[in-house]
Amino acid sequence: MSDEQQTGAGLRALGVKAWAGLAPGWQPVASLSEIAQEEITPAWVGGHPIVLVRLGDDVFALDGRCTHQNAPLVQGTFVRGAIRCPFHGFSFDVRSGEMVWPGGGTPLPCYSTRVQDGRVDVWVEVLE
Ligand code: FES
Repeated sequence: MSDEQQTGAGLRALGVKAWAGLAPGWQPVASLSEIAQEEITPAWVGGHPIVLVRLGDDVFALDGRCTHQNAPLVQGTFVRGAIRCPFHGFSFDVRSGEMVWPGGGTPLPCYSTRVQDGRVDVWVEVLE
């Protein structure tokens, strides 16, 4: 892996309260060594839960709460490139946040990531 690598589909809107007090920019969330391949790893950004999934050299960051009924996705499972919600089984593609099962629902917000010196950062914009 290069010293710096970016992945993810970019920030989608989240409630402003979750990000209050955070400066916009790259926020460190984990060490790369803490993130196992093809597993769901919890992390926090400014008090907001997110989940991280490592696929090869890429790390993907997504919102930690299901868009259906707010289930904690850290309790979900990783299945064939998607996070399956622990409550009702809805699944979200880790690369795009798209709901792949049952499909057509609200996608999961996902965030750009980078890896620098073994540290994983997530890009945060503070919404007005
Ligand atoms: S809360 Fe996630 S599928 Fe219902």
